[in-house]
Amino acid sequence: MRGGPVTAGSTDSPKAEFVVVANRLPVDLEKLPDGSERWKRSPGGLVTALEPMLRSREGAWVGWPGLADADVQPLVEDGLQLHPVRLSAQEVEEYYEGFSNGTLWPLYHDVVAPPAFHRHWWQAYVRVNQRFAEATAEVAAEGATIWIQDYQLQLLPAALRALRPDLRIGFFLHIPFPPTELFMQLPWRREIVQGLLGADLVGFHTPGGVRNFRWLATRLAGAGAGSNRNEITVDGRPVRIGAFPISIDSAALDQLSRSDAVRKRAAEVRADLGNPDKIVLGVDRLDYTKGIDVRLLAFHELLEEGRVSADDTVMVQLATPSRERVEHYQKMRNDIEQSVGRINGEFARVGHPAVHYLHQSLPRDELAAFFLAADVMLVTPLRDGMNLVAKEYVACRHDLGGALVLSEFAGAAGELTQAFLVNPHDTDGVKNTLYEALTISPEEGRKRMRALRRQVMTNDVDRWARSFLGALGMPEPVGADRD
Ligand code: ADP
Ligand code: G6P
Repeated sequence: MRGGPVTAGSTDSPKAEFVVVANRLPVDLEKLPDGSERWKRSPGGLVTALEPMLRSREGAWVGWPGLADADVQPLVEDGLQLHPVRLSAQEVEEYYEGFSNGTLWPLYHDVVAPPAFHRHWWQAYVRVNQRFAEATAEVAAEGATIWIQDYQLQLLPAALRALRPDLRIGFFLHIPFPPTELFMQLPWRREIVQGLLGADLVGFHTPGGVRNFRWLATRLAGAGAGSNRNEITVDGRPVRIGAFPISIDSAALDQLSRSDAVRKRAAEVRADLGNPDKIVLGVDRLDYTKGIDVRLLAFHELLEEGRVSADDTVMVQLATPSRERVEHYQKMRNDIEQSVGRINGEFARVGHPAVHYLHQSLPRDELAAFFLAADVMLVTPLRDGMNLVAKEYVACRHDLGGALVLSEFAGAAGELTQAFLVNPHDTDGVKNTLYEALTISPEEGRKRMRALRRQVMTNDVDRWARSFLGALGMPEPVGADRD
């Protein structure tokens, strides 16, 4: 999706048969210093995955335009109907930065940072979920299929069902669903489970998430057993639950990375980095769950031990700015930037940093060039729902080059079993595995990459969407490709 000036489309668009609802629209409204506004692509994996899926299905998207107090009319962008939901500055602080990203995000990611529990955050979460319900009810045609996304909107399934019992409602959680003993910390645990049970289908990335949710639904919301493992009943109504591991638009990325422009740019990237023997790459939203500190430490120790030399091996870390007003994120950014400074202070030469760090979001083709240039991709989250970066790297390696080091605690590890799997809490393990990946024989590397590509190219995001929507009972889009 391209950036550009804000263009309001028609507000009298027909009611939609298929509606995606997510906290964010796929585009973010940005205020420029001269006071003008433009749209840019929203950050994160949710948008990466859903945008191509929705384009092929001609739906509507309900979400927040990414700025506080922005009054934006519904608009049509590249044929997609966008319906903005307004959030006040206080709601951004309490619902988005507060309850969503200060309570739920750390709680659902194994409490890798302490979650904060505040009643006024919760009240804002309830209020905003209700507003999303009203906005969605406005947009949806009679009997439409509604697909609600992610942890920011867990009360929406039940709130929407109360307003529009005619709708077919699916919910998908893009982040891990936590172990029950962690979830039980949440003062509003029952309300969240009841909110989710408003859906006809609740989807998670992994079978573990399904098991945890089933246990909680029966204990906290009195749900009944259902006719099979993938069903529970709520007041006699069946609610299906299931694991649907998300993916990427693999073919599009494969094609992009084969283009002359991207190949040429990959060679330029290598040259710009001083044509080192090896390039180690990290690409993430700057988030404390991603284990960026873990990989910097591993690289630092390899340099200190002399097993790797900064003369022939460089590390590149690309980090999209994220949630910059949330305290944990500010602290983590400082820590990471200090580590980068420390490594470069010790090991860089003038004109030759050991670690190149960009706190920037790059265009897709530029990212593809970095993937193609990198000999080792480091994906080391402490916990991650899926991690699409790992799959993107694989999709870009049509040359069967490169090696993927992947945390066992990313959902992707369940599928990408031929990666170099690591426990991110084990610094020696990460360090030794990084070394192994740097020194792997080309034949072994190709063998692993071939197996990884088989997985990623077959299980793409369209298959994911079809499998979820099929389970929800939504008819296939006209003209959809089949395997
Ligand atoms: P999350 O959803 O937690 O952000 P994922 O790995 O699933 O994590 O998805 C991240 C998405 O953001 C991927 O599509 C990735 O390519 C993109 N991304 C991450 N870092 C950057 C960056 N520096 N520039 C551009 N895109 C990025
Ligand atoms: C993850 C979450 C998404 C979120 C994205 C970006 O992918 O699962 O729900 O949109 O990160 O985070 P942000 O807070 O900027 O929307």
